[in-house]
Formats: sequence, C-alpha cells, structure tokens
Amino acid sequence: MASSPHNGHGHGHDQNHLELNGDTTKAHPASKKPRLSLSLSSSSSSFITESEIRSEFSHHDPGIARINNGSFGCCPSSVIEAQREWQMRFLAQPDAFYLNELKKGILQSRTIITDLINADHVDEVSIVDNATTAAAIVLQQMAWGFTDGKFHRGDAVLMLHYAYGSVKKSIEAYVTRAGGHVIEVPLPFPVKSGEEIITEFKKALERGKANGRRIRLAVIDHVTSMPCVVIPVKELVKICREEGVEQVFIDAAHGIGCTDVDMEEIGADYYASNLHKWFFCPPSIALLYCRKSSKLSDLHHPVVSHEYGNGLAIESAWIGTRDYSPQLVVPSVVEFVNRFEGGIEGIKKRNHEQVVKMGKMLAKAWETNLGCPPEMCASMIMIGLPACLGISCEKDTTNLRTHLREKFGVEVPIYYRIPKNGETGSITGYARISHQVYNKEDDYVKLRNAVNKLVSDGFTCTLLSQ
Ligand SMILES: Cc1ncc(COP(=O)(O)O)c(C=O)c1O
Repeated sequence: MASSPHNGHGHGHDQNHLELNGDTTKAHPASKKPRLSLSLSSSSSSFITESEIRSEFSHHDPGIARINNGSFGCCPSSVIEAQREWQMRFLAQPDAFYLNELKKGILQSRTIITDLINADHVDEVSIVDNATTAAAIVLQQMAWGFTDGKFHRGDAVLMLHYAYGSVKKSIEAYVTRAGGHVIEVPLPFPVKSGEEIITEFKKALERGKANGRRIRLAVIDHVTSMPCVVIPVKELVKICREEGVEQVFIDAAHGIGCTDVDMEEIGADYYASNLHKWFFCPPSIALLYCRKSSKLSDLHHPVVSHEYGNGLAIESAWIGTRDYSPQLVVPSVVEFVNRFEGGIEGIKKRNHEQVVKMGKMLAKAWETNLGCPPEMCASMIMIGLPACLGISCEKDTTNLRTHLREKFGVEVPIYYRIPKNGETGSITGYARISHQVYNKEDDYVKLRNAVNKLVSDGFTCTLLSQ
C-alpha cells in the first residue's frame, strides 16, 4: 500500500484497518434485537417542547413557509453544534484526530445505522456523501460488467419512469455508454393503488425478457421524488427474484425517517438512503447497504484513495482530506430524535398523519384531488392545483414556484403532468408538500391562501412567461 500523506510513515491507515476490518461483530453483536433505542425515547414528562423545537430550528428563514423538507432536509441547532465540535477537534490537532478518532467515529455511526435499518452486520453498511454517490457506486459496477466481458451488449438495467433525474443520468453514463439497454417502467399518475405499479412493473419485465435480454439490475425508488409515491418495494423485489433479475438496487433517497426501512423485510441487494433528508443530519451523509450474501457485488467508491481494495465501507471512510463531520454526528442525531415521543418512529408517524391532513385540506379548498391514496404516501404528498392556473409545461412549474416564493413566501415544488390524449380541462399541476417536526398548520394555510388569491385574481402561468 502507498504511504499516507497523513501519518508521516505510511502505517497509520493499516493500524486503523485493524479496528474496522477485524472482529467487527464486537462493534455490532450478533443478536440484533432489541433494536437500537431509537424508538424508545424520553419519558413523557421530558419530551421536547414546542418552544424547544422552535429554538432548534430558529436558523430557518422566518419569512418562508418551508413545506419542502423533501428536497434538502433540515438540521437542528443541537446537531449543528455537535458537528462544529467535531470540526474543531479535527482543526485543533488533525494528525491525532485522523489517527485516533476518525475511523472509530465512523464505525460508531455505521453501527447505529446497521441497527436502524435492521441489517445483518455492520460490514454491510457504508457511509457515503449522498444518494447520488451511492447510485454511482452501484452503477459503476454495471459498467465494469460490460467492459470485463461478464455482461453482453444489450443486457439490460430496469428503472422506473419516475426515477430521479440524476440517477437516470448515471444509468446513461455507466450503462448505456457501456453497451447496456435500459428498460423503463411507465407509471400511472395519479396513482390509485400499489397494484397498478406492480402490474406495470411485471409488464415491463415481460417486455424486456421477450427480447431475450438478461436483466442485470433493477433500480427501484422507495419513495419517488416527483411525483412522490411510496413504491411497494418489497413486492417488486420479490418479483425480481422470481423473474431472474440478477441484482436489485433500491434508491431510497427519502428512506430513513420518511418510510419503513428494514433490510431483512425488503430483501434487496443494495439500498441507499440519505440521512440528511429525513434523519436530521447536516449535509451530506447517506448509507449504502450491500447485502453480504450478494455474491455478485464488486463495489468500489468512485473516488479512489489509499483504502482501495479494503471493502467499500473502509474505502468510503477515507476518500481524501475533507470534512467528515456529517458522518460523525449520527449519535447526536439519535439523541435529538429520542427527545420526541416514540423517537424517529413517532416523528415519522406524526409527519405522515399531518401531511395527509394538510393535503386533504388543500385538495378540498382547491376542489382538486390527491396524487395517491394516503397509504401510498409517507411524509410528502401531491395535491392537484386548480386547472385554471394554466400550468402547461415544465417552465410554468418553475415560474410558478419562484412566484410563490418571492411574492407569497412559500417554498413548494410543483410537478407538471402531461395531459393524456384528448384530455381537456384536467389537472396538469401538482404541488408536493412535505411535513417535518418544525412545520405548523399556518405554513400550509399560507400556501392555500396564496393559490386562492392567484385564482381569484384570474392569474394564469402565461403571465409569468412573458
Ligand atoms: C429518489 C431520489 N434519488 C436520488 C436523489 C438525490 O439525492 P442527493 O441529492 O442527496 O444525492 C433524490 C433527491 O431528492 C431523490 O429524491
């Protein structure tokens, strides 16, 4: 191994490997139950109060109704403070920090995450920057399958039509360019049931296989971004297994803290979840789970450093000099969520209930509909906007979003739904609202009133495109 620029004599990395590559079962005992005390929280007398919540998020711009947690998440002051402490520990004595603290800290975070997602072993859990990086790691492996001659030209990767834009680009970069074929699963929207998704998924698999293609990988979102819908991943993974899809990757950028994340139940080969979206970590941190029994995997971090070849978790724990503090604050986040009744499970449940309630309130006020039944949404939901707003292209959604931010102080993303052939007067725009612990009913009332005002003023999106 090349010597490290950080230890002066080239042994520092090796010494630290021992801590992580050795008997990691000590760090995460074989008996997995009871799961981390994440669902246990303080006694009712000491739950976090409303004013403490306000104070934890007092850095949020008070002029904005922030109902878009789904895009960038949030981080409370107590965690920002903990992050600052980690940063200062590094800056105070970088060499000692690097040699003695960093790897231990990352292992501790990985151990907590292992419990949180019900993985079998801490070795299955790597920490990376974000879901985008996790997707690149999995897809890069596909590219090697083609270049190493393991896959044949025309072998396929399957993805949902609503796959996240950057993940689609990653598939283009790593799969299409290497000679792979992409099968896209069309999804209905608005969606009425999980069955509709399962049916489309099965049809796409059939189409793919009818041409004699091997499906090397299925990329399935857990919660799609735009429009947002919770995908029945457990059922789809099972179908993939039955139909001979080689590997399954779940893109759960909205995973932990948003929906149910259990590796044993879901059964995928790879699962990526951000922790900076719904788990209160500062940007940026995501987990990438890789099932140990998945014999086919040959995953490597795309940023190659000294740890290349030592396993993805170890490779990812050092990708050059940078700020690792977001990866180290996971224990502080656990402390934060346990101040709430029911811990992260309680937060998730209340967010779901509130977002459904607010979604129904808006749909009623605008005389429109939700984008999916409540059981198919987690902490975000789509609500149809009045058709008279005249949303008729992607640009209209960006213009309207900017208008709502600048003129009404509301931050909310908007989706353009292309009308089907012959459809007139139908809903073409949907607002995606999120709910997180800092939100208040007033935030959604602000959105409702803003849209009502636009409607009563006879506003249409054409006014913004001039
Ligand atoms: C489904 C999905 N995948 C991937 C991403 C990318 O996440 P990040 O920007 O944290 O890498 C997002 C972001 O919203 C997403 O919704």
